[in-house]
Amino acid sequence: MTINPVKVGLIGLGTVGGGTFAVLERNQQEITRRAGRGIEVAAVAVRDVAKARRLVGEALPVTDRPLELVRQPDIDIVVELMGGYEPARTLVLEAIAHGKHVVTANKALLARHGNEIFEAARARGVMVAFEAAVAGGIPIIKALREGLTANRIEWIAGIINGTSNFILSEMRARGLPFETVLAEAQRLGYAEADPTFDIEGVDAAHKLTILSAIAFGVPIHFDAAYTEGIGRLAAADIKYAEQLGYRIKLLGITKRTALGVELRVHPTLVPMQRLLASVEGAMNAVLVKGDAVGVTLYYGKGAGAEPTASAVVADLVDVTRMHTADPENRVPHLAFQAEHMADLPWLSIDDTVTSYYFRMRVADRPGVLADIARILADHRISIDALFQREPGEGESQTDIIMLTHDAVERDVNRAIAAIEALPTVLAKVIRIRQEELV
Ligand code: NAP
Ligand code: HSE
Repeated sequence: MTINPVKVGLIGLGTVGGGTFAVLERNQQEITRRAGRGIEVAAVAVRDVAKARRLVGEALPVTDRPLELVRQPDIDIVVELMGGYEPARTLVLEAIAHGKHVVTANKALLARHGNEIFEAARARGVMVAFEAAVAGGIPIIKALREGLTANRIEWIAGIINGTSNFILSEMRARGLPFETVLAEAQRLGYAEADPTFDIEGVDAAHKLTILSAIAFGVPIHFDAAYTEGIGRLAAADIKYAEQLGYRIKLLGITKRTALGVELRVHPTLVPMQRLLASVEGAMNAVLVKGDAVGVTLYYGKGAGAEPTASAVVADLVDVTRMHTADPENRVPHLAFQAEHMADLPWLSIDDTVTSYYFRMRVADRPGVLADIARILADHRISIDALFQREPGEGESQTDIIMLTHDAVERDVNRAIAAIEALPTVLAKVIRIRQEELV
């Protein structure tokens, strides 16, 4: 018996949409053998129809009216690869209302409106799949929702923004200026339409928020995320970190503690011997700590046309396989049954307990270090390692670089304020968090 192919409506034919179209065409036979039936793009929606035509030819319907596409009766699955909040949100909700399954790579949309979208999908009995929304081609959503389902997840830490990792790697290895590397990331299709999302850590926070919901069975809560990007990182700190045996990476970290859930994105010192420290370019890597399995690591291309298409097509195959299954028997959108999702307290960054790197520009005078050490001790911060840059000939200033043991961020903030008030401390104290990741 021949089963009709599943019909897909594709909104967006840019980096990811174009990649998805190409992979579906190229691997058509292999995909059909896996899915049990064909998966066929039936219509495409874009803004620039003529440009899309050059890619897909004349035979396929192409429209600049995506709202019509999501209402088309013959379409089974809508693939949203346009990005942004609106009209993406309206289109996804409209597709769901019309009984279509949805596949999306849009982490910004899910981080802001995921709870609403998943609830609408649940009520209508359709699937919303989003593997491509986090860590590009790495099947991290599948791993968390299915492979690690036996575990109580303790924490996740990952390099989940390819653009910022590419920028950090190229700046460190080739000494290239920030702007040059960012332009290259944009040319390669890694960056978001608004690249400040990449640089300021917002894109990583979108992804982390989704991971945290799936890991802990909590609603998606983007507003709880602390976000600090790579924009203010100085080359001097990258160099000093290396001297201390660390590499600086933009990490997304979410942790379940006795007090609540930590959700934070910031540049982080990672010990050189950890695999995460060697993740370069647009590659992503995610560490997940489960109570039964221990620490597991997922690594692969985090951005770009075909790596991301790989995740989109995997979702299409999953949805096709489960198309006719009873909705109750499908894997829940956020890994936990909707009625068993439970909110936990969300911790402010002030409650974070971690170790720190400090760089202090000081007058090269006796007693300066003693004053700083006293302030740190008064705030329960103990020094783990310390060195002082040798001042140049005739120089009256120097840098003190130190690593601390674990401390509470609130105490660290107070200590920094007191240190900056010393007349011998000549500039704002640079502070970068440090994680051992074990
Ligand atoms: P992109 O290259 O800018 O492509 C966007 C596509 O959407 C274009 O074809 C554009 O059409 C179409 N589009 C935009 N607004 C539209 C509208 N109002 N109506 C109809 N079509 C519209 O973006 P992308 O890099 O492929 O990213 C797509 C999504 O995937 C985003 O959510 C992004 O965050 C996510 N993502 C991207 C990557 C990556 O590596 N790039 C990886 C993972 C996830 P025109 O070309 O005609 O303007
Ligand atoms: N702009 C994103 C990144 C694309 O650089 O990681 C992949 O989500």
